[in-house]
Formats: sequence, structure tokens, C-alpha cells
Amino acid sequence: MKKIILVDSSPRRKGNSSAIVDLLASDLAGEDVLAFHMRDHDCRPCLACAACQNRETQACVQKDDVAALLPAIEACDALVVASPIYNQQINSQAKLLIERLYPFFRIGRKNMSNTAKFGKKAALVCSCWGSPRDVTERYCAWTVEGLSQMGAEHFRSLVFDQIPEAGAVLGRADYLASLHELAAWLKADTQRRTQ
Ligand SMILES: Cc1cc2nc3c(=O)[nH]c(=O)nc-3n(C[C@H](O)[C@H](O)[C@H](O)COP(=O)(O)O)c2cc1C
Repeated sequence: MKKIILVDSSPRRKGNSSAIVDLLASDLAGEDVLAFHMRDHDCRPCLACAACQNRETQACVQKDDVAALLPAIEACDALVVASPIYNQQINSQAKLLIERLYPFFRIGRKNMSNTAKFGKKAALVCSCWGSPRDVTERYCAWTVEGLSQMGAEHFRSLVFDQIPEAGAVLGRADYLASLHELAAWLKADTQRRTQ
């Protein structure tokens, strides 16, 4: 059974990111899935206090729901972030979550990470209206690789454009097919890289 965390960073309760997480969770039934809808949690930005640095654990001094999620991120097999595109980028909430992975940062270690578990998968699924597709795809492919910090070594990114309305992703058969494919990839065993 794979441990998979699905993060929805949208403030819209019935938005596309929410629907994406629900669809993936349904395809991943039977796996150990944690759906984390950021709008329902206390998620604070990194304080840059550096108390987490030069430690073997991924502990954060903050007492919020992101700090509580860090052990699950360390133990997971895969992390998916579903984010809307705001002003050509992932939204602030998604960025906040990625920045809170700072306790994993360890310069001089493989992939600059103190994780005890490499070989994880990471995916970023972005919903948007009309941002230029090619630029957004390159941006998302680059952004998801930032999750190498939590031990990810296998990456996927998807850009679903032309869906400005909440829940519009559900009317796009092509996007739903991509999500089924993503779920199959998340479930599949992947050979660990050796370095
Ligand atoms: C503040 C704000 C900024 C946005 N900026 C962009 C943008 O730069 N490019 C774009 O294509 N869509 C933009 N959108 C549209 C959203 O990306 C789109 O509605 C998306 O489907 C929202 O996803 P959600 O339903 O998961 O919240 C923006 C929406 C908001 C509220």
C-alpha cells in the first residue's frame, strides 16, 4: 500500500484543485491516502528562524498543521500538489507549503536533503484560465522538481488550462484521462535510483 499525500491549495471549496484531489483519491482507493485541503487548516509561512537547520529530523518549531504534516511528508511515497495558477505561478498557499519543506534542507547531502527516504514521487497539477501553455508547462515542470528536497526523485506535472470556472475540470474528458494516468503512475512501483 502506497502512502500518498494529496494537497489542494485552492481557497475555492468546489474549485478545480479540490475536484482534482477528489478524483485522484477515488482512483487511489485501497492506497493509504491523505487529502489535505489547505483552506481547512492552519497553514503559516516559514519564519526563516532556521531552528530546523543542521538537524537530522524534519521538525519545525511552529505549532500549525503544516508542521504536523511534515512527518507524513517524510514517510510518504508520493506527494501531489493541486494548485490554481495565480498571476502566472502556483498560488501563495502552494508556495507556502513548499517553503515549509525547509526542515528537509541539508546542504552537502544528496539532493540537498536530510530525508531518510529517497525515491519518492512528486506531482504538480495546475489549473488555470489562459496563461500561455508552453511557458506554464515549463514553469510547472521546473517547480515540481523543487520537491526533491523532501526526497522526490520522480516527477510529473500537468497543466489544465481553459478551465476558469470552479469545477470545470470535470467537463474535460482529456484532463480526466490525464488524472487517471497520473493515479496509475502514483500506484506503480518505480525503480529506485542508485547514486
Ligand atoms: C487572483 C487570481 C489570479 C489568477 N491568475 C491567473 C493567471 O495568471 N493565469 C490564468 O490562466 N488564470 C489565472 N487565474 C484563474 C485561475 O487559475 C482559474 O480560475 C483556476 O481554475 C482556479 O483553480 P481552482 O478552481 O482550483 O481555484 C487567476 C485567478 C485568481 C483568483
